[in-house]
Amino acid sequence: MDIRLAAANPAEVETECLVVFALDHGNGNKPEPKLALANAALEQAIAELVASTEISGKAFEAVLLHHPRGLKARRLLVVGCCKAKSFTHMELRKAAGTALRTLKPKMIKSAAFAIPDLPSGSEDAVRSVVEGAYVADFDPDTYRSDRRDFSTKEITLVIRTDDPKLRAAAEQGRMVGESQNFTRELVNEPGNRLTPTMLADRANKMCEGIGLKCEIYGPDKIKELKMGAFWSVAQGSEEEPRLIVIRYEPQGAPEKPVLGLVGKGITFDTGGISIKPADGMEKMKYDMAGGAAMIGAMRAIAMLKPKIKVISIVCATENMPSGKAQKPGDVQIAMSGKSIEIINTDAEGRLVLADGLHYARTLGCTHLIDAATLTGACVVALGYANAGVFANDEDAYQHFTRALQRSGEKFWRLPLDQEYLDQIRSNIADLMNTGGRWGGAITAAMFLKEFAEETPWIHLDIAGTAWMEEQKPWIAKGPSGIALRSLVEFVKSFAA
Ligand code: BES
Ligand code: MN
Ligand code: ZN
Repeated sequence: MDIRLAAANPAEVETECLVVFALDHGNGNKPEPKLALANAALEQAIAELVASTEISGKAFEAVLLHHPRGLKARRLLVVGCCKAKSFTHMELRKAAGTALRTLKPKMIKSAAFAIPDLPSGSEDAVRSVVEGAYVADFDPDTYRSDRRDFSTKEITLVIRTDDPKLRAAAEQGRMVGESQNFTRELVNEPGNRLTPTMLADRANKMCEGIGLKCEIYGPDKIKELKMGAFWSVAQGSEEEPRLIVIRYEPQGAPEKPVLGLVGKGITFDTGGISIKPADGMEKMKYDMAGGAAMIGAMRAIAMLKPKIKVISIVCATENMPSGKAQKPGDVQIAMSGKSIEIINTDAEGRLVLADGLHYARTLGCTHLIDAATLTGACVVALGYANAGVFANDEDAYQHFTRALQRSGEKFWRLPLDQEYLDQIRSNIADLMNTGGRWGGAITAAMFLKEFAEETPWIHLDIAGTAWMEEQKPWIAKGPSGIALRSLVEFVKSFAA
């Protein structure tokens, strides 16, 4: 997708389709749609539609006009957004995506967006439109033989005045949007087409193309490092595990902080000996979404070039039942030396992350953030709208909330009180890998906390948000790429 900027009156722009956003200025039940970007020619072109109440300004309603009067554009697409007073970059991202997904099936491969004003500024508006367009351009039908290329060729951002800052904002939106789709491609791959080895190869190839240092280790190194928790999951599979380490160490970055991005990379989760029911098990191909978010985030970070050191660690393995698989009751010694009684082999994510987090600390990371499709309990607690976030440090959490304000992603904080630790104390070992039925997302996080120890740490549970169960006007059903944008903003927030 090419991105152009044009400082022009939208009415004068020659394009396949001009996209404008309409906001509802009414109060109470009476909608009063007005264009987000006031322009006489545009207002004129849609006056009839507004009068006919065909446009209400309701969120994500899209109306397409052919040969709009008084405009140079061949078509005009009016996208309703929301109430004018609640219009932010979050709605704009979705509205831009809605426009693109309205045009895509019609084979309209280029469009011009009239960039509206936002309280947060025009750079934010440009960035959000570009990000929204990339997210919308992704479709998950990789292996359909009737797959047709509907992808958008070019978008033009129509701005008031040319400004290098807006060009930079568009560039940044592109880097992040492309990286998010890179992550989504990985998450979309089925288990047989993305084994741990293949995931590592894809990460390695990405790194080579972009100048990132990538180290990939197999069973020998995992055993040599005494990663007993990671290995306990990997031992049951015929597929070799991979420990993926990606380093971003730009010149001129301070010695500290060093951020550690740790991802769960279970390329398929059968549950192991505590096997999952067959119904819906195919979904567990996306159990590497946290790892894929980290790999994609490193791609974006390498392009955005913040002055800060970042190391990403992805623990990639399958979780399989077999004659070699670990059993409930087994005791494993993690890399940190803590002993773990395995109660349920399906609670494997926390095992691989325990060693991933500890390894990150030994590599010198001063701050940790992990992302994982960790618990069904998180989906019970928060549903599909919010992902879970946990933190053992208020300062790190402040950085994360700042990141959320810019990324537009939705996370809700859950607690980490000491009381919850009692649920995962074992009689035979230091910890159990499950804590019973109640507060399952929290006891999983408490388990990880034991391995982050004193290091400031954030944990993201994306089990309910990594996969869109339904399509939305602005995004296809399938992998969402959640967490990537917030991770990138989190890193930038530390660099600032
Ligand atoms: N990968 C699953 C969690 C999951 C559930 C991800 C739904 C995406 C959607 C994880 O490994 C798991 O199986 N967790 C168990 C933990 C339990 C055994 C304590 C769960 O949530 O049931
Ligand atoms: Mn599991
Ligand atoms: Zn899992």
